[in-house]
Order: sequence, then C-alpha cells, then structure tokens
Amino acid sequence: MREIFSRYSVRKFQDKPIEPEKVKRLLEAAMQAPSAGNQQPWEFLVVTNQESKEAIARICRYAKPIVGAPLGIVTLQNAASLAYPECVQQDLGAANENILLEAVHLGLGGVWMAIMGFRDQMKGIKEYFKLPDRIEAFSTIAIGYPAENKTPQLRYDEKRAHYEAY
Ligand SMILES: Cc1cc2nc3c(=O)[nH]c(=O)nc-3n(C[C@H](O)[C@H](O)[C@H](O)COP(=O)(O)O)c2cc1C
Repeated sequence: MREIFSRYSVRKFQDKPIEPEKVKRLLEAAMQAPSAGNQQPWEFLVVTNQESKEAIARICRYAKPIVGAPLGIVTLQNAASLAYPECVQQDLGAANENILLEAVHLGLGGVWMAIMGFRDQMKGIKEYFKLPDRIEAFSTIAIGYPAENKTPQLRYDEKRAHYEAY
C-alpha cells in the first residue's frame, strides 16, 4: 500500500486548517481498526484550540509539534467493561496507525506522540481535559498539511524476518 511506504513523521505544518470532512474521515479510519473481540476501547478528543495545544506540549515534553499543527487528536482508552483488557493497548495502537495512514491518503501528515506509560503526562492530560475516571490518554497525534518533505527511510531488514522457526 503506497501510504505505508510514503508515510513519515511530520513535525512541521503549513498554516492551513484541515477541512472538517477530512477530520471526520480520520476519526472514521481510527474507529475502523480491528480490536480484540471487537471491543473498540477507544474515544478521541479533537483539539484545534491553540491554548489546549500549548497545554498538551507543556504536559508532554516530546509533544512540541502539536503547537504548530492545526489539529491534534488525543487518543483515549476507555477501560470500562472490556472483554479483553489485556489487549487494549494493541487495539489503540491499531487505531493510531489507521489515523496516520489515512492522513497520508488525504494529503496530510502527522506524528504519533506517546502519553500512555508516562504517568506524569497521563495525569497532566487527565487533569487538564477533566477526563472521567474510566478514560486514560493513550497518545496525541499532531496532524496537518506538511511543511516538510522527507524521503521515508526504508526499514526492511531480512535478518528480522524468521520463517517457520527462529
Ligand atoms: C509509540 C510512539 C511514540 C512516539 N512518541 C513520539 C514523541 O513523543 N515525539 C515525537 O516527536 N515523535 C514520536 N514518535 C515518532 C517516532 O519518533 C517516529 O515514528 C520514528 O522516529 C520513526 O520515524 P518515522 O515515523 O518518520 O518513520 C513516536 C512514535 C511511536 C510509534
């Protein structure tokens, strides 16, 4: 698929808003992801407000690209009554990757920035956005029209592929 091989992390963006139908398409792509038992343990916080983007960048030390992006999507894990809680991070990972690939398809670019696993950042985002108890922040994805043009690194390494036995 072309989008897989042309994607790279975009951290600089044009000063141009994203059309609302493209924002919706990104969310549709996210929610189309597979999940364990189809449990769909995700919710999404769409952020375009500059003050909120700056707050995210203050709370999450490696999330500076959000400040100059027209759109941030904070991906959220909803831990309420899950059939397979063990799989929730795998489910969210699939949704995140769908957003990044759909962004490329729409002529956009983005970068996935971790929150889950960093307790201070999870707490900071939870407090800032007043998230309910059952909701935890998983990541922030900064998205926009790219203002940089990179050649994606090709990473295929045959030493990492094992056939039939390790
Ligand atoms: C789980 C995860 C967390 C990441 N966190 C950050 C981050 O906090 N800040 C950032 O600028 N990039 C972050 N990235 C982007 C990676 O640095 C990037 O994907 C990697 O260097 C490979 O480059 P590429 O995406 O251009 O192929 C993250 C990517 C993943 C998958």
